[in-house]
Amino acid sequence: MTDIVNPFYFGNEVYNDDFCNRVVELEELKKDCASGQNLLLYAPRRFGKTSLLKKLKQDLEKSDEYKIIYFDLFSVSTVEEFIQKYFNLIVKCFESDSSKVMDLFKNILNIRPNITMTMSSNNDISYGLSITQKEQIQSLEDILNLPFLYAKKFNKKIVVIFDEFQEIEQLEMEKKLRSVIQTHSREITYLFSGSKKSILTQMFNDKSRAFYKAVKHFHIKEILLSDWETFIIVKFTKSNKIIDRTHIVDIFNITQGYPYYMQQIMSVIWDKTFEIVSTAIVNDSLKLIVEREYDLYSLIWTTLTPNQKNTLKYILECDGLNLYSNDNIKQSNLTATTLKSTLEALLKKDICDKKNDKYYIIDPFMKYWLENL
Ligand SMILES: Nc1ncnc2c1ncn2[C@@H]1O[C@H](COP(=O)(O)OP(=O)(O)O)[C@@H](O)[C@H]1O
Ligand SMILES: [Mg+2]
Repeated sequence: MTDIVNPFYFGNEVYNDDFCNRVVELEELKKDCASGQNLLLYAPRRFGKTSLLKKLKQDLEKSDEYKIIYFDLFSVSTVEEFIQKYFNLIVKCFESDSSKVMDLFKNILNIRPNITMTMSSNNDISYGLSITQKEQIQSLEDILNLPFLYAKKFNKKIVVIFDEFQEIEQLEMEKKLRSVIQTHSREITYLFSGSKKSILTQMFNDKSRAFYKAVKHFHIKEILLSDWETFIIVKFTKSNKIIDRTHIVDIFNITQGYPYYMQQIMSVIWDKTFEIVSTAIVNDSLKLIVEREYDLYSLIWTTLTPNQKNTLKYILECDGLNLYSNDNIKQSNLTATTLKSTLEALLKKDICDKKNDKYYIIDPFMKYWLENL
């Protein structure tokens, strides 16, 4: 039994058997890609955005009609880097045979960029452009237009996924990007995804910003209990272990179906279980994860002001409801004015959010950690 690999995984994106549900979301995304509807997919970190987008990419690539470019902007910190990385991804998406790349540009697309090719130690080729600082703006525009040229020439549907899109803010190229891709109309579908709600809301909802009202807003929710039940029970059964529904429900009540934590907790429970999951194992596992995540949460905690800390505790006490009611606020040591400003700060820091007048802590395990502090 010991040599069976743990069937639960948490960390980076998940594929195949590790991917649970998201059927409805995938269908909707596919329809939007077919119609060329640009959209913004927002959800907190570790919520399954990248997994969903990569699954969409995999599914769409089964059809010859589509070409998909997936670009993670997380580590991009300059426009130069954006140009080089985007260009490399575009070339690789359009032509897998390196001997045909020059041909594609010169004879077919009728452009002659100064392409550089470098080969890494594992024979992986990456493409770049040799451009001067002066040529940067023009090159950026040219690169942004490449997918459009290709789509028209080959009559393909192209989907460009910009993951961690909030990073674009610091590159100061929002206006350029928006003005170029606007001309691509429905030929290219742009999917923007990100986890920093405060930045993204500003980018897409502020009248003075380039992307104001430019996209459809697409929300993904937690994965439902019934889907987790099947997913988890199958994984336990296949590895000759037993878990009762009630334990899954208990964990779900803590994680609210938040994908990363469902997998993380189940992974620990699975490890600790020889045959049948017991309440003691569940409790031990939760304790272990609280210990493991202690550093992360206490680091966040120490960046908060005393009022912000009080506000978080207050949210927990009131279950996020009626925070401004006289009865409630009297029992806290906050005034309505401080409460207002601390709530704004906590929302800006992406620690809290508000849904239908209810405030809540975005990270369900941070909430659990706080409750057990
Ligand atoms: N559809 C899913 N089914 C099962 N687990 C998932 C799913 N989506 C995400 N997860 C879990 O969440 C973790 C983080 O997923 P990821 O796609 O990287 O999130 P994000 O891009 O939102 O930060 C994964 O390692 C996995 O444990
Ligand atoms: Mg991601």
